[in-house]
Amino acid sequence: MRIRRKLVAGNWKMNGSRASIKQLLNGILDQNTESGCEIAVFPPVVFLPMVQEMLLSTRIGLGAQNIDSHVQGAFTGEVSASMVAEFGCTYVLIGHSERRAYYAETDDIVSEKFSACVASGLRPVLCVGETLEQRQKGLTEEIVKHQLQMVLDNCGIGTFAEAIIAYEPVWAIGTGMSASPRQAEEVHALIRDVMMQEDSGIGQQIRLLYGGSVSPESASKLFAEENIDGALVGGASLNAADFLKISQLAGH
Ligand code: 13P
Repeated sequence: MRIRRKLVAGNWKMNGSRASIKQLLNGILDQNTESGCEIAVFPPVVFLPMVQEMLLSTRIGLGAQNIDSHVQGAFTGEVSASMVAEFGCTYVLIGHSERRAYYAETDDIVSEKFSACVASGLRPVLCVGETLEQRQKGLTEEIVKHQLQMVLDNCGIGTFAEAIIAYEPVWAIGTGMSASPRQAEEVHALIRDVMMQEDSGIGQQIRLLYGGSVSPESASKLFAEENIDGALVGGASLNAADFLKISQLAGH
C-alpha cells in the first residue's frame, strides 16, 4: 500500500516580476480545486514576503531556491535558512544542478547547506542527477549514489527524516526531453534502496520527486511509477493551468 502523499513543487528559478508573479499565483489560487496532492512553490527570494502573504490561509506550501550554509555574519549577498523560515518557507531546494554547475556547489557545500536547512527546522529538497555525458558513459548509478552518499555521510541518516529527494537528470532539465517513466523509476528505485539500507523507516516514507521537463503530457505516466512521489517542475510551473494540471494528475 502506498502511504506517501504526492508533492508537486514549482521551481520558478530566476523568473518573474512583482506583477507576473501575482498573476501566476492568482491563477493557481483561482483554479486550484483540492486535489489529493500537496503543492508548493519556490519563488525568487525577493518575492518571498509577497508570496507568503498571498498564500496565507491556503494549503500551498512555500520554499526557497537556495540558502547559505552559515547562520549569519559577513557573507555579502547571501540569505540564511532562518531568514527564509521567517518569511514562511518550509522547504529549501538544496544542490540543484544549476547551483552545482554555475555556482560551483560541491558535495561538501551541498551537505553544509543541507545541515543548515535542517538546523533551522526547514525541509530540504535534495537534488541529485547525472549529466548526459555521465549517462552515456553508464555512470548514472554511480553519480547519483555518490551525490546521495556524500550528504548521508556528512549529515547522517537522521537528518533525512523530514527531507525530500529530487532526481533531476541534468540532460532533461529545460530541454523538453523528459526521462522516460522507466528511466526515472530505475533511478528512483535505486535511491529508495540506498535510503532503505540506511534506515528502513525513513527509506519507506521519504518522498522522491522527479524533475526534468515535466509537463501535463508526461506527468501521469511518471506518477504511475511505484517510486515517483511527485514532481519538481520548472518551465511548466510558470503557467498556472499547466502546473495545476500536473498537480491534478498527481492527486489521482
Ligand atoms: P524544467 O521543468 O524546466 O525542465 O526544470 C526542471 C527543474 O530544474 C526543476 O528544478
